[in-house]
Amino acid sequence: MNLFNFQTVPRLVCEIGSAQKLGKLVAEQFAATTHALIVTDPGFLRTGLVDPLVAGLQAENFKVSVYSDVVADPPEPVVLQAAASARSSGIDLVIGVGGGSSMDVAKLIAVLLGGDQDLKSMYGIGNVKGSRLPLIQIPTTAGTGSEVTPISIVTTGTTTKSGVVSPQLYADLAILDAALTVGLPPKVTAATGIDAMVHAIEAYTTKLKKNPLSDMLARQALDLLGKNLVLACEDGQNLGVRQAMLLGAMLAGQSFANAPCAAVHALAYPIGGIFHVPHGLSNALVLPQVLRFNAPAAAPQYAELAEILSPGIAGSVEAKSQGLIDYMEQLAAKVGIETQLRQVGIATSDLDRLADDAMLQTRLLTNNPRAVTRADAYAIYAAAL
Ligand SMILES: NC(=O)c1ccc[n+]([C@@H]2O[C@H](COP(=O)([O-])OP(=O)(O)OC[C@H]3O[C@@H](n4cnc5c(N)ncnc54)[C@H](O)[C@@H]3O)[C@@H](O)[C@H]2O)c1
Ligand SMILES: [Fe+2]
Repeated sequence: MNLFNFQTVPRLVCEIGSAQKLGKLVAEQFAATTHALIVTDPGFLRTGLVDPLVAGLQAENFKVSVYSDVVADPPEPVVLQAAASARSSGIDLVIGVGGGSSMDVAKLIAVLLGGDQDLKSMYGIGNVKGSRLPLIQIPTTAGTGSEVTPISIVTTGTTTKSGVVSPQLYADLAILDAALTVGLPPKVTAATGIDAMVHAIEAYTTKLKKNPLSDMLARQALDLLGKNLVLACEDGQNLGVRQAMLLGAMLAGQSFANAPCAAVHALAYPIGGIFHVPHGLSNALVLPQVLRFNAPAAAPQYAELAEILSPGIAGSVEAKSQGLIDYMEQLAAKVGIETQLRQVGIATSDLDRLADDAMLQTRLLTNNPRAVTRADAYAIYAAAL
């Protein structure tokens, strides 16, 4: 066993309807704060579900501002503009409400306002120097697990994605309330849910920081996500199913926060960066081919995960490992998302650029159970075309 570090957020509230108690929770835990900033995106704002959060905070005498201009795969200027406007209005508490994009922006606003370090010097691992403002995260997709990770992903330049990874990005409190997720469309439910499953799979097979706690969390996450993803796509109003998805995605987040993701994410990021394909779908598109590539190195772990998703699966380790790949391919087909790169507008002539960009994701590739060369990356994309 590797010796390991494990870190997560200090407080979680996992309860249907808990967002209604936001004002009270903030008054109890952050009594010294006065002016909260809710960070969200226009899509979630349209659901009308931000209004009761604002009202709950105001009822406890907090001043509330709402920043709702987050865009998917947030570009650097969006983060900087949001932070500048928060600074000028005297914010002293940040609340991310939304998918990974909103929560990632909330994290960076909290650290940017906590000191005077500039964003450029924060990219990479462990480069945030100061502290941050109090931070609450409320996920509205069951996907990224960003509510419990120390990671924020920003689109830098025109197409490249970079991560800020520092312990200061762990929130003080995460609130999981399925009532906020019932309006998530089936396709977004499917793609974000597969993202969460990928987090569990990649954490379980991560090369350098695999540890017993992350393993346990990944297994539990896959069990919940596997049992509930199709149901969540079929009946988005089912609160029990939605809460199980939120819990599964959060557990996967805790897992990969300590046992980091690998080649699936490394090959997915260029697809999102260049072609603006949503994060979960980008992962789903390369997942089966990366699993096939990794199988010679990771078959025993894949076989263990197959037993969770397909209880009673029989055969050799290799057969069970193949069973995991089959399961994930069938799941993508069942939930109706695209399964080939060409379906999202990618052509053979794009593969060189994708492979070049993927090789820049060294933070992730270093965790892959099997070394990935540029030729391997190209071959994986070609097989996924
Ligand atoms: N920080 C991390 O640990 C981490 C991990 C993985 C991915 N990411 C990042 O997270 C981002 C992706 O996040 P995401 O997949 O959650 O998507 P997202 O935050 O971009 O949201 C996707 C869409 O869903 C809509 N939406 C969200 N919740 C809704 C709801 N309840 N009802 C109706 N519509 C809703 C949004 O308006 C948006 O249009 C990417 O930038 C990715 O790089 C971060
Ligand atoms: Fe992800």
